Amino acid sequence: MVIVLDFGGQYNQLIARRVRECNVYCEVLPYYTSLDRIKEIAPKGIIFTGGPASVYEPGAPSCDPELFSLGIPILGICYGCQLMTYLLGGKVSKAPLREYGRTTINVNNSSKLFYDVSPETICWMSHTDYIESPAAGFTTVAKSDSCPIAAIEEASRNLYGVQFHPEVVHTQEGTKMLHNFLYEVCECSGDWRMDSFTEEMIKTLKEKIGDKQVLCALSGGVDSSVAAVMISKAVGKQLTCIFVDHGLLRKNEGDEVEEIFTKQFDVNFVRVNAQERFYKRLTGISEPEEKRKIIGEEFIRVFEEEAKKIGTVDFLVQGTIYPDVIESGLGKSAVIKSHHNVGGLPDYVDFKEIIEPLRDLFKDEVRKAGLELGIPEKLVFRQPFPGPGLAIRIIGDITPEKIAILQDADYIYREEIAKAGLDRSIGQYFAVLTNLRSVGVMGDERTYDYTVALRAVTTTDFMTAEFAEIPWDILGKISNRIVNEVKHVNRICYDITGKPPATIEWE
Ligand code: XMP
Repeated sequence: MVIVLDFGGQYNQLIARRVRECNVYCEVLPYYTSLDRIKEIAPKGIIFTGGPASVYEPGAPSCDPELFSLGIPILGICYGCQLMTYLLGGKVSKAPLREYGRTTINVNNSSKLFYDVSPETICWMSHTDYIESPAAGFTTVAKSDSCPIAAIEEASRNLYGVQFHPEVVHTQEGTKMLHNFLYEVCECSGDWRMDSFTEEMIKTLKEKIGDKQVLCALSGGVDSSVAAVMISKAVGKQLTCIFVDHGLLRKNEGDEVEEIFTKQFDVNFVRVNAQERFYKRLTGISEPEEKRKIIGEEFIRVFEEEAKKIGTVDFLVQGTIYPDVIESGLGKSAVIKSHHNVGGLPDYVDFKEIIEPLRDLFKDEVRKAGLELGIPEKLVFRQPFPGPGLAIRIIGDITPEKIAILQDADYIYREEIAKAGLDRSIGQYFAVLTNLRSVGVMGDERTYDYTVALRAVTTTDFMTAEFAEIPWDILGKISNRIVNEVKHVNRICYDITGKPPATIEWE
């Protein structure tokens, strides 16, 4: 295993992903992880990430300098490279020229890091500080016009550093450099695969859980489903999954989830049909945050009641994945919408410990694991769906009639997108029932019905998004079908705003 030591850089997730793409298992740990813990893990190598600080500022994130004496190969990236230099006695200062973007560097091919890399290659720089003079024992193995020390090494101690970012795609031979570090320097065996991860995890879970009881709040989303199936493969019916149907799911979704879990997997599956309770509490509520709050509270109540029937359980499963860990840990952004369910199901369930089998995986890795476990593609590639469900896609107050209209319109929209083969390339797409009614004509009749808005975005991280350019003919077909097949809808609009300034959901 390789450790990525996190100094707060924006590309940390990418580094971990690149390492795993090289078939080496890696975990991201915070920079303050103790020396003892690192010794205990005994990684084959450590990668220091970038970060926004300056090493010479008071309070800048640092690490125990003894780390450099453990004999473990280290690669410092950007801030990580500066930190290594600083701690080992070199000089880091503000660069005369701030470098940002594509830069040509010249590399020394005799460095293990640059085996087989073109002598002149393009990389991605993003830094204000630079290494003025390397620490004793280090030599410079790459330079650019404005950065005379773009990479350093002390090969005898297996210490390497690069000022640029090999993990981003703009560094054309970045993956090769990381590969070189992992294989030439760390001598990793490269035998990590997703199937070995799932197998290992199931084995570990089996040992950990023993003959104890496990409880899972299943949402039907990818993460909680993969986590649940993993546990069920480990301990079968010792796992109880509670699936709360709040009546705000997409059309047929509740039945589909039930069918998959009852027919394909060996778990105790409890479906709670709590629609009426949710509808009742939502009557007359139109403010989005109020809706979220009510649904969140009611969900907890329903879950609690069901959990009580089961009694004390030993473990509670959560489908937390790595980006959630980062977001909740470093969540410094303002609350635009109170959506993140991380931290999850708290103290109201009587359990002893939380299990998070997917904590170290990225979304695409969770999907791979899901396929390995035999979960149907339909569920594995399901687009994200917000916890409050259709409640935040019906503008204004919610009624069972409006829910039915939206479910039908959204179903048609999804069906046509899938038929057009666009379902995997669009990050998220759904229909919104606006509270706008307008005049139309159908047959010879005047209508006064709802406007449905169609939303589709492409995005990698859901923090920013662009509207998807769905071809007109497909949009036309969808519009036609919805107004013809769904009663009380007589107008369709397509949302062409990005995020920002809009958000993905309408509420
Ligand atoms: P926004 O609308 O904030 O959405 O651009 C970004 C992503 O978050 C999802 N989202 C939610 N997920 N509970 C959730 O579990 C919520 O209340 C919620 N609101 C938005 C949204 O679907 C998109 O994927």
